[in-house]
Amino acid sequence: MKTLIQNGHVVTAIDSYTADILIDGPTIAMIGVHLEKVVGAVDKTIDATGKLVIPGGIDPHTHMDLPFGGTSSSDDFETGTRAAALGGTTTIIDFAVQYRGQSLNQALDVWFAKAEGKAAIDYGFHLIVTDLPDQRLPELKTLIQQGVPSFKLFMAYPGVFLVDDGTIFKAMSVVGEAGGLICMHAENGVVIDVLVKRALAEGKTAPKYHALTRPARAEAEGVHRAIAISEMANSPVYIVHLSCNEALKEVQAARDLGLPAYAETCPQYLFLDDTYYEQEDFEGAKYVMTPPLRDKANQEQLWKGLRGNDLQVISTDHCPFCFKEQKELGRDDFSKIPNGGPGVENRMSLIFDGGVVQKRISLNRFVELTSTAAAKIFGLFPKKGTIAVGSDADIVIFDPSLQETISAKTHHMRVDYNAYEGRTVCGVTETVLVRGNVVVEGRIFKGRAGNGRFLKRSTSV
Ligand code: URP
Ligand code: ZN
Ligand code: ZN
Repeated sequence: MKTLIQNGHVVTAIDSYTADILIDGPTIAMIGVHLEKVVGAVDKTIDATGKLVIPGGIDPHTHMDLPFGGTSSSDDFETGTRAAALGGTTTIIDFAVQYRGQSLNQALDVWFAKAEGKAAIDYGFHLIVTDLPDQRLPELKTLIQQGVPSFKLFMAYPGVFLVDDGTIFKAMSVVGEAGGLICMHAENGVVIDVLVKRALAEGKTAPKYHALTRPARAEAEGVHRAIAISEMANSPVYIVHLSCNEALKEVQAARDLGLPAYAETCPQYLFLDDTYYEQEDFEGAKYVMTPPLRDKANQEQLWKGLRGNDLQVISTDHCPFCFKEQKELGRDDFSKIPNGGPGVENRMSLIFDGGVVQKRISLNRFVELTSTAAAKIFGLFPKKGTIAVGSDADIVIFDPSLQETISAKTHHMRVDYNAYEGRTVCGVTETVLVRGNVVVEGRIFKGRAGNGRFLKRSTSV
C-alpha cells in the first residue's frame, strides 16, 4: 500500500516546511516537493493543503481498564485507543500494575491480555511495581530486556501502591544501571493519609477536601525526595503528573545542577483549577484526581516550565471514571471517590489551542511536548515521534483553523462527562495514520480494534 500526502505543512520538533510525504507500507519512504512526478502509481492520495502534518501524538501516561478505588477505569483498550486516535494520538504507554505476590512478568501478562485484540493504535507498557523484595530485583532487568524499560513507583497510597524509600533506592539503582527509567508518583502519601483521616474525623467529606488534604507542599516534598534518592542511586528519574509550581521548582533546581531529572505535566493542570471542586451537587467529584487541581496561579508557571524545558512532556494521566456510577462511590466520603479523570481524546487540541494559538509555545515545541520528547525519553525514537524517512508512518493531519467545542455529547471516551465541557478549542485532528493505515479520516474513525501493536521499547533517554 502506497499513500501520498500532498502539500501539507510538515512540522516536527525542529523543522517546518511544505512538502509531500510518500508512505510505503508502514514506513515513511520519501519526503519532497512534487513527489507525484517521481513516485509512480500510488493507492491513495491525501490532499493536506492548508493543514499541518505532524507526528502522531504519543501519550505516555494512560490507565485503560485499571482496577482502582473499588472499580475500574471506564475506558478499556478498545474505547480508549479509539478516542485517542480521534484526538490525534497514535501511541500510548499504559501502566500495567503488579499486585502483591505477583512476579513482574505475571503482572505484565494481565495487561497484554487487556490490550490484545482491542487496541486500535500502538501501545507500550510501563509497570507499576508494588512488591519488590530483594530476590525480585533481577526481574527489573529482565523486563527492560523485554521492551518494558520504565517502571512507576508510588510515594502515595499507603497499603495499596506505596513503596518505601529503601525500595525506591534499590529499584532506582538496578533500573538506572540497566539504562531504564523510574517514573515517580511523588507525593508524601504518609502525611496525606493523616490529613485525610483528620478531615474525615471532622466531618469534612465533600470532594473539595480531596484537594485540601493533598497540599502542594506534599507533592514538592515527594519530588525533592525522589530526585535526591535518584541522585544517590545514580539513576535518572521522571516525575509523573507534576501539578504545581512548588514541585516544578524542585525539578528546576535539580536540572540546574545537571541532574537527569525529567517531568511531565497534564492538560488538567494547565487549564483547570481548584475552584472546580466547589461545584454543587457533588459535581466537584469529577475533578478528583491525584495530584489535585491547584490554584490558578500555578498554570502560567507550568507553561513557563514547558517553554524552558524544565517540563519535557505533556501526557494526560487518562484515568476516567463515570460520574453517575463510579465517582458516586465517594458521595459520603471524598477518600472513596475513584481518583482520575478523562483526557486522552482532547490533549492535542487543548495544547495546540492553549499553547500555540495563545502564543505560549511554538509549533515545534507543541510537537516536541506532545510526541517527540516522549518518544526519546521512553525509547521509541526515531521510529515514533517524528516525520523522517524510515520512521513509522504515524501521521496526523491537523486543521489549525477549525474550531470545536468540547463536550461529552460528542466525545468518544467511554465516560459520562468531559472535564473541559463547553471549552472551544482552535485546532482539530482531521486524519490519522498509524503505520501507514488510515485510522481516522475526515474526523471519522476508520481503524480496527486489534490493529494496534505492542511496542518493545529501547532504553535510550
Ligand atoms: O488520580 C489519578 N492520577 N489516577 C491515576 C493513578 C495515578 O496516580 O496516576
Ligand atoms: Zn500517579
Ligand atoms: Zn496515572
